[in-house]
Amino acid sequence: MTPDVPRRILVLGGGGREHALAWRLAGEPGVDEVVCGPGSAGIATTPGVRCAPVDPLDPAAVVALAQAEGVDLVVVGPEAPLAAGVADALVAAGVAVFGPGRAAARLETSKAFCHEVAAAAGVRMARARAFSGGEDAAARAFIRELADAGAGVVLKADGLAAGKGVLVAESPGAALEALPRFLAGRPTGQPALVVEERLEGPEASVIAVCDGERAAALPPARDHKRLGDGDLGPNTGGMGAYSPLPDLDAPAVAAIVAGVHQPILAEMRRRGTPFRGFLYAGLMLTGDGPALLEINVRCGDPETQVILPRLSEPLAPLLLAAARGALPAAAPDLLPAGDDAAVGIVLAAHGYPDSPRRGDAIGGLESAEARGALVFHAGTAARAGGGWDTNGGRVLTVVGRGRSLADAREAAELAAGAIRWDGVHRRRDIALRVPDGAGVPA
Ligand code: AMP
Ligand code: GLY
Repeated sequence: MTPDVPRRILVLGGGGREHALAWRLAGEPGVDEVVCGPGSAGIATTPGVRCAPVDPLDPAAVVALAQAEGVDLVVVGPEAPLAAGVADALVAAGVAVFGPGRAAARLETSKAFCHEVAAAAGVRMARARAFSGGEDAAARAFIRELADAGAGVVLKADGLAAGKGVLVAESPGAALEALPRFLAGRPTGQPALVVEERLEGPEASVIAVCDGERAAALPPARDHKRLGDGDLGPNTGGMGAYSPLPDLDAPAVAAIVAGVHQPILAEMRRRGTPFRGFLYAGLMLTGDGPALLEINVRCGDPETQVILPRLSEPLAPLLLAAARGALPAAAPDLLPAGDDAAVGIVLAAHGYPDSPRRGDAIGGLESAEARGALVFHAGTAARAGGGWDTNGGRVLTVVGRGRSLADAREAAELAAGAIRWDGVHRRRDIALRVPDGAGVPA
């Protein structure tokens, strides 16, 4: 049986990931229109996409918009609306939604909960302990314990931090010094942070479309989280990504789906909070095999921008079927992708990630697109009289495609180089040192 295609879809959010989702879904057969709420002026330039104002964190407002627009499916982009219970409200109103309810979204919103579920599911994560406000001494003792065992230390704030609440400490001393910042303002007894053993290896993002029971994996991607070339500087939301991963072939992805996604889905079902939505496993490919670093309950940004252009089967019917609780029986565990490659470079505003500057005039967008790149808007605003200004931290993702990662990287570099504004920051080494499965090149 051919699965139903949602004719009208509401995509919630307004960043680069949502631009890619809206672009992809609007271009699929049988989809008449994608409404993006609130979207952005940049997203609204996509054929088949219209933007509608809404506060994506207001469940009642989202339900009202979905009903007024008569959509067949809502796809939630960012985690914050999920944590705010938007999916629960849509389900209660009888609207099909792809994205988990608040209880299942805790996999992302609470690092401690993620560790608890992974442990119950038998999924390997870094050795870790959660600490609440007031547990300064215990946290210090655990940092020393990890250091004595020869392990590096990672501190992670509990709760949503847009990928920026993690400190990979350079030394145990640096972890001890940073600890008070992670505990400051956290009430006694309230979850404050997770202290983790530092793992080494290339990272990978394996994101699967889940219906509560089954998982169908999107092509894997690799994000570049640090701000600067050579993986230096602070963690960010992500500075660039590429797909496919030469060091993670189809059998390896299938093993991750079987060893990570499936057990997590089973455990969430057992708890009475089945997970429907994009289940994003952030992994470290260590010498001892893959270890789960984190779960996100949504697609990655900028991973989505390089994954979706490669997908060779329609996504919209899968999302609708999964939202209804049953992926089609014929859906493969690994969704098919073309044998092409995609490389995405994030262009960030001056001052990102601490205090991004707004209002710088962007030049060269058309010329980047004329070079064949996909340009996804994240933090832009339409300038009166035409053109675009910076209006956020991550401003654009420029995606180059090619027959190999090297070709795709060249296309992305060329297009990104055509775009300019005062203080633009981007990495020059996205997809440059690609592990090949035989270890990371020096
Ligand atoms: P998270 O938000 O938990 O994915 O952490 C953000 C980034 O911090 C990850 O993508 C890694 O680059 C790094 N990181 C997190 N946990 C660890 C760990 N246990 N060992 C080494 N690096 C880590
Ligand atoms: N790129 C990392 C994330 O979306 O969390």
